[in-house]
Amino acid sequence: MEDTRKADGMGIKPLLKVLGRQPETIPPVWMMRQAGRYLPEYRAVREKAGGFLDLCFNPELAAEVTLQPVRRFGFDAAILFSDILVIPLALGRKVWFVEGEGPRLEPLADAKALLSVRQEADQKLLSPIYETVRHVKSELAPETTLIGFCGAPWTVATYMVAGRGTPGQAPAKDLAAREPEAFQHVIDCLVDAAVDYLARQLEAGADVVQIFDTWAGSLPPKDFERWCVQPTERLIAKLRAKRPGAKVIGFARGAGKNIPHYVDETKVDAVSLESGIDRNFARDEIQSRVPVQGNVDPLILREGGVALDREVDAVLAAFSGGPFIFNLGHGILPDTPIAHVEQMLKRVRG
Ligand code: CP3
Repeated sequence: MEDTRKADGMGIKPLLKVLGRQPETIPPVWMMRQAGRYLPEYRAVREKAGGFLDLCFNPELAAEVTLQPVRRFGFDAAILFSDILVIPLALGRKVWFVEGEGPRLEPLADAKALLSVRQEADQKLLSPIYETVRHVKSELAPETTLIGFCGAPWTVATYMVAGRGTPGQAPAKDLAAREPEAFQHVIDCLVDAAVDYLARQLEAGADVVQIFDTWAGSLPPKDFERWCVQPTERLIAKLRAKRPGAKVIGFARGAGKNIPHYVDETKVDAVSLESGIDRNFARDEIQSRVPVQGNVDPLILREGGVALDREVDAVLAAFSGGPFIFNLGHGILPDTPIAHVEQMLKRVRG
């Protein structure tokens, strides 16, 4: 008789077990931005691909860089190699990456520009990304979880408005305050585009999806509710209407004390924790609600040595009593030595 636990992956994927609230003695491990410039094999493929977006839209090469860190370190999860800014691209905006600086988009300066954002995402443009998911899925071991992702509407909107990363996200905050209805239009477009995008990633073989709200922490409480909590709640409800039981990890970076509320409202299955959060608070008020993921400080990972051992021990001590996925509190930095990643994994896995 077929083992149904194996058929749905729950019986053999440690990360999915944790999402189902069964703690593992040794926590499953992966790293945000695990496919990236700290790996020589990534840099080699990146060079071959040409631009960063060319790599995102090349299924064969994107699958290859997705798999590289899993092969090298035996991580418990692969995260799709793509970027949160492919959604604005699919909504008809211009997006490009400046080497050594970061993303650039044509900015949205006023209500008229906000209202000009297209409602339908170009799914044909995004189809190579679903192809990447299928390709990765076909090569992953059955115990490895495949994570899809998107940017949360607020975080993607901050880049669309400013046309680039901005300290404190002032341009988006100002425009949202001046033109709330037009800003809401962009948020609504981003919710619908994300629902479709994530549903198709799940259909193509992703086991779970993570929603990155990197700039959630820049919003004061009332705006946090309107631009982070409510759109994410709608996104997840609509996604689960399309894909019942869809598993979602939320990352409301910087939201700190507001995370329990974010969890209750959005109904995420788990949350990724930033490095700066009070770990006792996170254990008592967040892990008591949902499994948590995190939260080694990427700066300490780069530093290595005794400081890294202490950081790993502190993370394990805080969260090992409940359902927990070992990770960083934000993406790995490009100048992190590979030996430090190995040191961290050895300490986690014993
Ligand atoms: O985690 C992974 O390994 C999967 C791939 C992934 C990338 N971007 C690849 C990437 C994921 C999950 C993202 C998400 C993303 N992209 C976020 C949210 C998470 C976060 O880190 O806060 C944001 C804000 C972006 C937008 C973005 N993309 C920025 C600001 C930059 C420039 C910063 C940098 O590191 O260069 C990117 C580029 C980017 N996205 C790179 C990678 C590997 C570096 C590109 C390169 O190879 O030169």
